[in-house]
Amino acid sequence: MSSLTTSKAWTALQSHYHETKSDSLRDAFKKDSNRFNKFSLNFDEILFDYSKNRITDKTLSLLIDLANHAGLDEKIKAMFSGEKINTTEHRAVLHIALRNRSSQPIYVDGQDVMPEIDRVLTKMRTFCTAVRSGQWKGYTGKAITDIVNIGIGGSGLGPKMVSMALTPYSSDELKVHYVSNIDQTNIVEVLKSLSAETTLFIIASKVFNTQETMMNAKSAKNWFLESALDPLAVAKHFVAISTNAENVNAFGIDTENMFEFWDWVGGRYSLWSAVGLSIALYIGMDNFEELLLGAYEADCHFLNSRFEENIPVIMGLLGIWYNNFFNAESHALLPYDQSMRYFADYFQQGDMESNGKSINLQGEKVDYNTGPIIWGQPGTNGQHAFFQLIHQGTKLIPCDFLAAANSHYKLPDHQDILISNFLAQPEALMNGLTAEEVKKKLSPSQQTDTLLVASKVFDGNKPSNSFLFNKMTPKTLGSLLAFYEHKIFVQGVIWNINPFDQMGVELGKVLAGVILPELKNNDVITSHDCSTNALINRYKQLRES
Ligand code: F6P
Repeated sequence: MSSLTTSKAWTALQSHYHETKSDSLRDAFKKDSNRFNKFSLNFDEILFDYSKNRITDKTLSLLIDLANHAGLDEKIKAMFSGEKINTTEHRAVLHIALRNRSSQPIYVDGQDVMPEIDRVLTKMRTFCTAVRSGQWKGYTGKAITDIVNIGIGGSGLGPKMVSMALTPYSSDELKVHYVSNIDQTNIVEVLKSLSAETTLFIIASKVFNTQETMMNAKSAKNWFLESALDPLAVAKHFVAISTNAENVNAFGIDTENMFEFWDWVGGRYSLWSAVGLSIALYIGMDNFEELLLGAYEADCHFLNSRFEENIPVIMGLLGIWYNNFFNAESHALLPYDQSMRYFADYFQQGDMESNGKSINLQGEKVDYNTGPIIWGQPGTNGQHAFFQLIHQGTKLIPCDFLAAANSHYKLPDHQDILISNFLAQPEALMNGLTAEEVKKKLSPSQQTDTLLVASKVFDGNKPSNSFLFNKMTPKTLGSLLAFYEHKIFVQGVIWNINPFDQMGVELGKVLAGVILPELKNNDVITSHDCSTNALINRYKQLRES
């Protein structure tokens, strides 16, 4: 048994779970008209309502005891002060430095990292101004109209999610496209409508040897040179974002056109660095800095607030409550905002690559559940797809609902209908519908149909958080993203794991490297298990020469 599961804080939570697991949220609201005030927090323009969770005052206090047992306060301070908390890779974890809007220095190995961060931000600003004003010309003297970001995982998902969320801040003159998948469909379909004369490629890769990114970058360069012919024209149409100048140079991009970041920025936490260049080009550098400001203010809140009033801490602890005591397997992210359509995709990597671990910081196998499966889709689409299972299935799925009170667009009636759904779903999940209530809505003959009545009953008692904010602005998005990042960190600390490495993605890459040469000819393959051999050999039969 681990020191976590045998700790006083953990066993107290276990007993508390057994005492309260059947308590009804519906009753809790009936008994306490102050429940919303007690279990909600305001941060800037964001309201965080966590009152529809299966908790009492005691639950929160026991969860906070657990956070204290795990040394959360010291761990937060260690991250913010540049300690090497990524212990397997011996690296500091300083995405918070990228959005440090104060004049406070942040040190790594005795070196203040802020001057370098500011230098790259200034370089980004100069570049964005040149491209957005049309002063930066392509090889035929035309202004840039399309940006193609080539990058995968953290080098693609974050910029794509933010750019799509903030499209109302973009200008009509500059479009942005994202290519990540090695499947050629991705790049072919993006390039189909573009002109080499007016396209700028951003090759974003921390290590600059990621197979998918390098292959897509090579195909992009070939496509470009088919029109431009002159390799010198590449300098006007390709820029790189990386920590690896040598590989950037080897690929043929002048390091003058490289925007640096550093090994203390994890890939999935990198949108705040130069990896956000496509965002800055799309919405302008001022708006990108607003995004940083929103995150910075959330960072200050996380660093300085008592746990009882600390949004990311509460989010993290509630997740632990369901994951480790109710054995919930997943967590749904449900933005009622079409612009946030990549939010769940983004935090699938953010959360699952961070906390999908089963080895603790001492190298021992853990004996408790770690990171949940993160999934979701924007409402109201999800309601007509998977909500059935959340309402009446056998699994407990804690949900986060997120919505902006005001849309950027002004069609009549849409917003109130959207928000009525955003409000109704958590209410329905919490209250459910009893057999008595069902019967009241049925005709006398239907009331005796036991199958019909049973099928219409909703157990309720399904927990959710609601985030309601004024509008989807760069600043609000920055704060929301930082809250979720810190929630992941809080959970990693409690589980005593390292949320900042990602060794688990390596094995598949290595095996693909073994198989690739075997696909070079038509020889029959026998070196794998019989399933893999058969699939390889069938592929060879099927592929067109
Ligand atoms: O394979 C996983 C991963 O290393 C992610 O952590 C990262 O975001 C992604 O690949 C892309 O890496 P890079 O930016 O170095 O190309």
